[in-house]
Amino acid sequence: MYLLYTILAALLSFLGIKWMKRRRYCMDVKRLDGKTVLITGGNSGVGKETAVALALRGARVIIACRDEDRARKAVREIKNRSHSMNVLFMEVDLANMRSIREFCKSFLRKEKRLDILINNAGVPSVLDWTDDNFSMCFGVNHLGHFLLTNLLLPRLKESAPSRVITLTCSSYKYQKLDFQDLNYNLFPFFTYCRSKLANIYFTQELARITEGKGVTAYAVHPGYVQSNWTCHYSFLYRLLMKVIMFMFFVPCEAGAQTVVHCAVSDEVSAHSGGYFSDCKATSLKPYAKDSGVARKLWEASERLVKVP
Ligand SMILES: NC(=O)c1ccc[n+]([C@@H]2O[C@H](COP(=O)([O-])OP(=O)(O)OC[C@H]3O[C@@H](n4cnc5c(N)ncnc54)[C@H](OP(=O)(O)O)[C@@H]3O)[C@@H](O)[C@H]2O)c1
Repeated sequence: MYLLYTILAALLSFLGIKWMKRRRYCMDVKRLDGKTVLITGGNSGVGKETAVALALRGARVIIACRDEDRARKAVREIKNRSHSMNVLFMEVDLANMRSIREFCKSFLRKEKRLDILINNAGVPSVLDWTDDNFSMCFGVNHLGHFLLTNLLLPRLKESAPSRVITLTCSSYKYQKLDFQDLNYNLFPFFTYCRSKLANIYFTQELARITEGKGVTAYAVHPGYVQSNWTCHYSFLYRLLMKVIMFMFFVPCEAGAQTVVHCAVSDEVSAHSGGYFSDCKATSLKPYAKDSGVARKLWEASERLVKVP
């Protein structure tokens, strides 16, 4: 009898895990010949898989990364897997506002189009500071992309219809923003959740500002993905996470699917400012849809990064 219970429990756990790991794949076969895609942090995880998928569809793919060696290695892999030679790397450190400004200057000088901007790079729950003294999560995940997008907005408008896709996380729901302390840097997980909530507000306000100008914006939760984010932690934690990730998280290719869907699907344009998960528009907690907070965050971010 015990044996039967054990087998039944094992079977149910297996099916439960299978169910948790199920992800929709992007079924849209649209090609992107002649389009230019910029992906921050495209040397690893979800970003690299997105780069492969979009290069396979004919896009010119530029990965914006902070480490030249890792980026060049990724470019070789993306080219090999997509059979496209139209993949290149440009250097940017999103933890440094000067680096972002220089990157954008160079991008605008060299690239005549920007059809899809994918704000993918991200740091997980870490307590650290950027070169400009912002908390690492808020500084890189939100402010860095905020500045980058604003500086590239003229090119996005010229290339209309264009899209901005920003990677967020369903863990946004565990925190709210505190405008007295946007640079909150106390509990690592909470700093991450706040930065991911900021990504959602950013997307909503960007959609409002660019309405009717041919630029649309989407926030994407990729699912829980077996990517490289554990590299920021100790050996033991990495080991533990490897086991958990193997059991419950999805491969990076599956994690890239909603990003690819938002990059190519015609259906999504009706949902500019929306939050997407598993290749479909998904509802948010009511407070995460507050347009007043979104605008307030936009204005605060403008002051912090000194966007004219
Ligand atoms: N993995 C998940 O389960 C999960 C869940 C929800 C949301 N997300 C989101 O998905 C996005 C992609 O993450 P991932 O899971 O693919 O993690 P990942 O494999 O660690 O990739 C993160 C990328 O961001 C880059 N990056 C970090 N700091 C940077 C900086 N200062 N300047 C430029 N690039 C920087 C990394 O570059 P280096 O290689 O040089 O470090 C790397 O290429 C993130 O925004 C993350 O928050 C992930």
